[in-house]
Amino acid sequence: MIEFLLLICAYLIGSVPTAVWVSKGVFGMDIREYGSGNAGATNTFRVLGPKAGTFVMIVDMLKGVLAVRLAYLLPQYQDIEHLSQLVKTQLVNFQIALGLAAVLGHIFPIWAGFRGGKGIATLFGLVLGIQPLVALCCVGVFLMILFLTRYVSLSSIIASIAFPVLILYIFNEPELYYRIFAIAVALLVVLTHQKNIGRLLKGNESKVPLFKNRKE
Ligand code: G3P
Repeated sequence: MIEFLLLICAYLIGSVPTAVWVSKGVFGMDIREYGSGNAGATNTFRVLGPKAGTFVMIVDMLKGVLAVRLAYLLPQYQDIEHLSQLVKTQLVNFQIALGLAAVLGHIFPIWAGFRGGKGIATLFGLVLGIQPLVALCCVGVFLMILFLTRYVSLSSIIASIAFPVLILYIFNEPELYYRIFAIAVALLVVLTHQKNIGRLLKGNESKVPLFKNRKE
């Protein structure tokens, strides 16, 4: 029962529509009517500038981190130093469920008419909360693709595909649930980026200007 309440709580945290509230509260407009129409950090950067974009990115990421940490409210997970392997597995399982509830909230926020973002920053917060090293490797992949192509969407998609590859082949994660989770993350990101994939294929996806003097 407490577990169920914590999952609801994680969904509500994920539902905080940072980009929508910042755009409406500070700029008097709805970010979903501009740019790519996505209520996420990338579109906030694009439409409202780096300060607003960075703020949205950090808060959206913290939603994932916070959701994962809700697990420690349960008494059985508080003595983290002395958990048996079985209880540790249960803890990570529950943390994944909490993080995914937050990502679901981010994509379908109850506080913003169920029209949210694509889940990247919150997913990153979730992975950072349970596997910081893997999360950093994914950031490395993301930045490399961004540097090479200047497409945030493509960088997000490739970094999310790198996630199960890292889990399965580099970190050799033995737990089946972890492997399934990693593959599910990649599929979820591909699913939420369908419009971006369409634009990438047509060649009209917008790029980020990484270099001031570089021409399109
Ligand atoms: O995190 C979302 C990003 O990958 C794409 O955002 O606004 O270009 O659709 P956007």
